Amino acid sequence: ATIRREDYRPPDWLVPEIALDFALDADVTRVRSRLTVERNGAHDRPLRLDGDELTPLNVLANGQDVAWRMEGPQLVVDIEGDRADLETEVEINPAQNTKLMGLYASGGMLCTQCEAEGFRRITFFPDRPDVLSRYRVRMDADEQRFPILLTNGNELASGKGEHGRHWAEWEDPFPKPSYLFALVAGDLKPNRDTFTTMSGRKVDLAIWVREADLPKTGHAMASLKAAMAWDEKVYGREYDLDQFNIVAVSDFNMGAMENKGLNVFNSRYILADPEIATDADFDAIAAVVAHEYFHNWSGNRVTCRDWFQLSLKEGFTVFRDQSFSADMGSAAVKRIEDVRVLRMAQFPEDSGPLAHPVRPDSYIEISNFYTATVYNKGAELIRMFHTVLGPEKFRAGTDLYFDRHDGEAATCDDFVKALEDASGVDLSAFKIWYSQAGTPQVDARIDYDADTGTALLKLGQRVAPTPGQPSKAPMPIPLRTALLGEASGAEIASEQLILLDRPEQTVRFEGLDEAPLLSINRGFSAPVVVRAKRKGDELERLAQSDADPFARYEAMQELAFEALLAGARGEAVDAEPLIRAAGNTLRSNELDPAFKAEAILLPTEAVIAERMDVVDPDAIHSSREHLRHALGSALMDDLAKAQAADAGSGADLSPLAKGTRRLRSVSLGLIAGADQARAAGLAKAQFDVADNMTDRQGALSVLVSLDAPEREAALTAFYERFHEDALVLDKWFALQAAAQRTDTLDQVLTLAAHREFTIANPNRLRALAGTFGVNHWAFNGADGRGYAFLADMIVAADKLNPQVAARLVPPFGRWRRFEPKRSALMRSQLERIMNTPGLSRDVFEQVSKSLA
Ligand code: ARG
Ligand code: ZN
Repeated sequence: ATIRREDYRPPDWLVPEIALDFALDADVTRVRSRLTVERNGAHDRPLRLDGDELTPLNVLANGQDVAWRMEGPQLVVDIEGDRADLETEVEINPAQNTKLMGLYASGGMLCTQCEAEGFRRITFFPDRPDVLSRYRVRMDADEQRFPILLTNGNELASGKGEHGRHWAEWEDPFPKPSYLFALVAGDLKPNRDTFTTMSGRKVDLAIWVREADLPKTGHAMASLKAAMAWDEKVYGREYDLDQFNIVAVSDFNMGAMENKGLNVFNSRYILADPEIATDADFDAIAAVVAHEYFHNWSGNRVTCRDWFQLSLKEGFTVFRDQSFSADMGSAAVKRIEDVRVLRMAQFPEDSGPLAHPVRPDSYIEISNFYTATVYNKGAELIRMFHTVLGPEKFRAGTDLYFDRHDGEAATCDDFVKALEDASGVDLSAFKIWYSQAGTPQVDARIDYDADTGTALLKLGQRVAPTPGQPSKAPMPIPLRTALLGEASGAEIASEQLILLDRPEQTVRFEGLDEAPLLSINRGFSAPVVVRAKRKGDELERLAQSDADPFARYEAMQELAFEALLAGARGEAVDAEPLIRAAGNTLRSNELDPAFKAEAILLPTEAVIAERMDVVDPDAIHSSREHLRHALGSALMDDLAKAQAADAGSGADLSPLAKGTRRLRSVSLGLIAGADQARAAGLAKAQFDVADNMTDRQGALSVLVSLDAPEREAALTAFYERFHEDALVLDKWFALQAAAQRTDTLDQVLTLAAHREFTIANPNRLRALAGTFGVNHWAFNGADGRGYAFLADMIVAADKLNPQVAARLVPPFGRWRRFEPKRSALMRSQLERIMNTPGLSRDVFEQVSKSLA
């Protein structure tokens, strides 16, 4: 059934208090719950409690037997009067919970995931985010197997029971929706620290892991403390409990979860040391730890009224974590990375069959809407508010928002209203970014009249239709724009914020004494595609002189696209402008190595495909290979120098050391494009001497695509050394699934039969099947075997874990854009999945929408 935003109604019953009592056990956990329920308004509707795979063993109202019935999965009770105590009892089996929603077992411990609708798999409850309750939780478990018992809030008391059991009782003083409930029981050890908040409250911090993993928790702890300090400084937000706990688990559907006072993490976003984690892993850990911490205000203290408002907390919190990371390292490089993610993940979503607005209008399964659109485009939308208001007014707006809605379940409209009320700026036109799907395309052309010194910038915008939205209205698009002198390279019209909010608009520049070059959408001020009409060497000039690092990067990307698209169309390719620009970049004394690495990185094949009307993966692949060859041979000396640069110790995580390593491996990749034998030798040496995972993985990621004896040797050495570390073994699977070779699918099939492959562990499944699905050339092999493989994986995974299976579907959503043969092959695999008996709601939604 489809759930619609317009059907929202306030809850019939509120639950101000809940007391939970868990008798924990891996196979049979008994859950007793006592809800204080209150009729919300004047109505005579019964109390309806959500359940999922639950059978009530006992139902009492005010201590008495009461008539109840099941309507589908819901427990329905007729309550007399406006208030009651409702007790229920159920038994659940964590060990058999392969969906990893609700209470489940992972590596001998028990843990929970409740967002979005997992709480109903634990106990009967109105499982919707606008029902906020104060929780009191008692846990009772075998002391040997589960020595540590954790839940939200503060511990009140604990003690020993009979038969080797022990118990603990906790209370969370802050009312919260059920999706923020969490419980963990297991044999865990803490990395402890403290943080003193700006008002002087001392908070006990702990990161709980298996004992052997304790040495790998230092970076996560340092990141947490940095995030706590940053949120005080930048948003005035202080932590509010005496304890803050983080637990790392190895079976987890997503990245991490912001449960009040007890964040639960996929272990890949906690565990790191330079031997096992890359610099990118370190950065991701800092970002996710900060993200979940920031949710304490943007998500927990102020939560969402309904799941259509998901971006209220996710878009805002992603913007907050992006800003945090920008402040901790290079803001320019961080912005480039964020835009790269947006273009790789969100733009395709926005132009395909699964396109939806940042605030969706309907869903079948809410888990399918934890998307790049809700998260990353949502963050771009908040960033636009920040750009338009400026930092002070934006901060006044968020202060008002937190103040006004503290303890409430709010909407995206509430957020905008707070920004408007605090700033006095009318933002109503921007709200269309919440409701209209699709990436706007902006066309730009500049006409210069040398006689009068005037230039006219002609702008136009359009948004292509998306499912359910055949015609689109113009959107307000803030474009940070400057003009550079064609001859001087200097800024001849200083940067201004142009608001393009009509289908067509002209902006006039006067007093120019040389021809202008257009530097537009600087810093990627709006999440749009800009198609600018450029003069012959305009991009090359911008790549060299633009003062805005993002615009400079963008000019390099556009130069690369010109060559790549020409090649893919079978036209003559002039790689010289890109070669000159990349050479100048590499040799620059001003640019830092991390920026250089980003700037010379070629767009991926999937991103190139986005810019073609009919996708031919072989043509795209060979065009990109040609360009790699051209760049690699022309710049061999510069690349070899960058590859050989000394980054010092692998434990040095300074921006300079990280950038040097990044540029090293990107350079190695281009060397491989031109000279495989030389690259194999360099990669082997890099691999062998590496004292860190960044260099090792960088070398291996090049070697896996080569036909060289060094390849097998390195893969074997890597496996032998690291196979006992699940997170590193994931890398070993992923690297091979990402290989650019004609036998990648065969290797992937072999790996799928490897004894250490399992579809039950989401990280392992994503490492192999997820990575293969985004390996454009291999997945889209002409014989369709790649499609069959991914479809098999989806069908098999769906039986265990629908949420994770559904996340493998999107690569199939591109089927309409491919040449006819592949298109038909993809479609037939989608139909095959569709016809599988017992398909989950999750996969059904993604597949049926992909076919529609
Ligand atoms: N709120 C979590 C985060 O972004 C994600 C939880 C997603 N869970 C899910 N079942 N889809 O930080
Ligand atoms: Zn989040």
